[in-house]
Amino acid sequence: MDDIEIISRFLEGNLNLHPLALEELKKMDDSEIERILSKLTKLENKNVITVEQITILKKNNGSSLEKNENNVVVFKKRKRALAEEYDAELRIKNELDITNRSFSNGDIQGFVKYFQDRFEKISNILRVREQLKDAANIEDLRRRSRDDVRLIGMISDIRWSKKGHLLLELEDLTGTITVLLSKNDGDLLKVSNSLVKDEVIGVVGRMWNDMVIAEEILFPDLPINKEANKSDVPLCLALISDIHMGSTKFLEEVFTKFIKWLKGEMGSLKHKNLAERIKYLLIGGDLVDGVGVYPGQEKELVIKDITQQYKRVADFLEEIPDYIEIIVLPGNHDAVRQAEPQPAISQDFAPRFYENSRFHMVGNPCRTTFHGVEVLSYHGRSLDDIISTLPDHSYSKPEKAMLELLRKRHLTPIYGGKIPLAPESMDYMVIEDLPDILHLGHVHHYGWAQYRGVTLINSGTFQDQTSFQRKLNMIPTPGKVPIIDLSELKTIKMEFL
Ligand SMILES: [Fe+2]
Repeated sequence: MDDIEIISRFLEGNLNLHPLALEELKKMDDSEIERILSKLTKLENKNVITVEQITILKKNNGSSLEKNENNVVVFKKRKRALAEEYDAELRIKNELDITNRSFSNGDIQGFVKYFQDRFEKISNILRVREQLKDAANIEDLRRRSRDDVRLIGMISDIRWSKKGHLLLELEDLTGTITVLLSKNDGDLLKVSNSLVKDEVIGVVGRMWNDMVIAEEILFPDLPINKEANKSDVPLCLALISDIHMGSTKFLEEVFTKFIKWLKGEMGSLKHKNLAERIKYLLIGGDLVDGVGVYPGQEKELVIKDITQQYKRVADFLEEIPDYIEIIVLPGNHDAVRQAEPQPAISQDFAPRFYENSRFHMVGNPCRTTFHGVEVLSYHGRSLDDIISTLPDHSYSKPEKAMLELLRKRHLTPIYGGKIPLAPESMDYMVIEDLPDILHLGHVHHYGWAQYRGVTLINSGTFQDQTSFQRKLNMIPTPGKVPIIDLSELKTIKMEFL
């Protein structure tokens, strides 16, 4: 808006502007001006609007217009929150983020390179283990036909023999070989509950004819002595995901409570003190319900236009105090390509997220360091494949399936499942460096576990059970928000339902 338009809009609300207030408003976009105007029209004492009043209402810094004891609407200035006293210290590892780095054209050569990269990266992790440091390649094994063998390979097939043995087809860059897990070795066979196609494993065994009789199966896994990094400042990180704005099942009241809590407007003193320490909010995808994600979805949408869905999420998120940095990943309902890794949600669909530098739009997966604490975030679609492929897994225990991903050191170990994978020049889904926190969402169920110095968290949802979930007997746990105390690496579960 230009000068004349701004002055006219304010006059319509019986508001006069001081020249400095007008100058401040001219720096803002139309939606921000309208937002401030709507707040000021509630004022009963409509003197000339000053620049100080505009500054207080600019973005959201927690200050507000409230009624005093005489029922007159007045400005209420907030005291500074603890998190406001500290500068943000976050580093997004752009080199591990596909945003603006996708060179995939989906050809065969691309897939060959992609799988080679996956194999090499996980082989290097396996070779650190004493038993595998001299692992031979498959061609050499065949040539030498040694008794004791150690090898590393990618599983191309898993099947049971007629006699009840488990047969794995393993592949490396030189050839393929069959590995037999004997039905008489009960302890070893238990591993069949964890094996999936396309993962890279190590085998210790002996040659018998043209195959390997396995004695031990080794996963890349985590070292047992990993120490978690901690922050030296008393700040906190809130983890959420799966807001599903636009869905008829979006729980507006619950999400509003969460935002109000961040603003210090609700909760016990203890919980208000915790809210004041939150410096970062990480959103792990599915901000909106999207459009055309599944057949018949339009019947379950209250907002049927995707840009309007993002606009509405922005309305909520812009209410969050401005000292909180917000990191945003996409999920499978967001307006980005479905093939993983996914780039950041673009400015075309969510322009308001690009208007304020405190929003950090990142890809899926993404690695971020907060005051030295490493967080690996991934939306979590591969949990569908793990839960439907392996026995003893369920949607109500996402942390158990997450543990499998960590042990396999890969976020999407199964290729050709429900997730399309883009054959990029490198495999962004390998978990090479270990995080302190692994954060996923997608399954709409809160989950928490600790394993060898890594905290595993599934951040749940703000959407009630959908008809699709009812059919699958998936019972979501909305409104549960894990808060990480970065100085102690402790998780506090807040509940807003
Ligand atoms: Fe999802």
